[in-house]
Amino acid sequence: MVQQNGNSEHPPDPDYFQTNPKPHNLDRQITLARSFIEQHARANRRVALVTSGGTTVPLENQTVRFIDNFSAGTRGATSAEYFLEAGYAVIFLHRQFSLLPYSRHYSHSTNCFLDFMTYNDVGAVVVESEYQQEMAQVLSRYRKAKEENTLLLLPFTTVNEYLWLLRGLAMQMRPLSANGLFYLAAAVSDFFVPAERMVEHKIQSSEDFQEDLTNRNGAKAPAAHMEGKRLVIDLDPVPKFLKLLVDGWAPQSMIVSFKLETDPSLLAKKARYALEKYSHHLVIGNMLNTRKWEVLFVSADGGERWIRVPAARRSKSITNGNLDDVHLQGPAIEIESWIVPEVAKEHTMMIEKTKSKH
Ligand code: PMT
Repeated sequence: MVQQNGNSEHPPDPDYFQTNPKPHNLDRQITLARSFIEQHARANRRVALVTSGGTTVPLENQTVRFIDNFSAGTRGATSAEYFLEAGYAVIFLHRQFSLLPYSRHYSHSTNCFLDFMTYNDVGAVVVESEYQQEMAQVLSRYRKAKEENTLLLLPFTTVNEYLWLLRGLAMQMRPLSANGLFYLAAAVSDFFVPAERMVEHKIQSSEDFQEDLTNRNGAKAPAAHMEGKRLVIDLDPVPKFLKLLVDGWAPQSMIVSFKLETDPSLLAKKARYALEKYSHHLVIGNMLNTRKWEVLFVSADGGERWIRVPAARRSKSITNGNLDDVHLQGPAIEIESWIVPEVAKEHTMMIEKTKSKH
């Protein structure tokens, strides 16, 4: 196997990057990231790479069908805003068309920006007076990030694009050493169709047009094919990139991963297991149904603690319609406004520890 990271202390990348194609716009994205990182490294500013949204798994090369997941990118987009507020520069590696920092306040289907607009006396379009103050605050934070060039938006769609980008960005972040932070909130596919088993054209559902799979001259069996009227999909595992990130791509940065579960009895166990297996800094566990108001911090020092937003401070839109008997006591709290300062605090401790070693 070819050693790709050029450092014999690090384990080589798996065959993945030799057998799955480099995305056509990767070089352009990495160039943008390089100059962004250089600017902030010169200013000795911390840089957080926030990943956000779900990755897709295409079933065909000329993709008509793909497998996707539930993630809307709320965790990532919201966290990115709080990292910016905490003084970080943020590379926002996100699923194309998922929620973005700042515009997320007005882009959701239940939060359409048009619902905040009206006409004034002379027919010009303006923001409704009751929303003016909040929108002015969001706008001013958004403009500050733009003026100071502290937010870089990089999109992906497929799991392949995500993996190439993550690896490429990690390499660029190396000069930041401990000032770099990886905050892995994206929902990344565990299974995929490798390039060598992907069919070129749309899979035909009609039996009259199905591909004849005999005589493929040694070519590997396609991962998705029709058997009569049934579509059969046989996926490969996606390599566990967290291991590669910790051991090879970004050994000096702080790495925070998220662990998603649906069975409450597994969450703490699996978060701890991930931390022990990958030996990174922090796992933040969350349950699919309660992720917007409670998370479990599992740290490398053995600590485990829940962060919970009390029912009376959750936003109306996240209480699943059970708000009738819950009255907000004060403004709603986004849990990321508590998560990010805690992560930043642990990052400070890690930086200080690193400095004291030198
Ligand atoms: O976007 P939202 O709707 O707000 O939802 C937020 C979220 C629930 C997606 C987010 O908070 C979250 O939990 N993200 C991680 C989801 C996930 O991939 O969990 P997992 O348990 O399947 O994987 C655990 C970790 O393994 C992940 O942090 C990932 O970095 C890593 N992993 C995953 C796949 C893979 N092939 N290799 C990996 O190393």
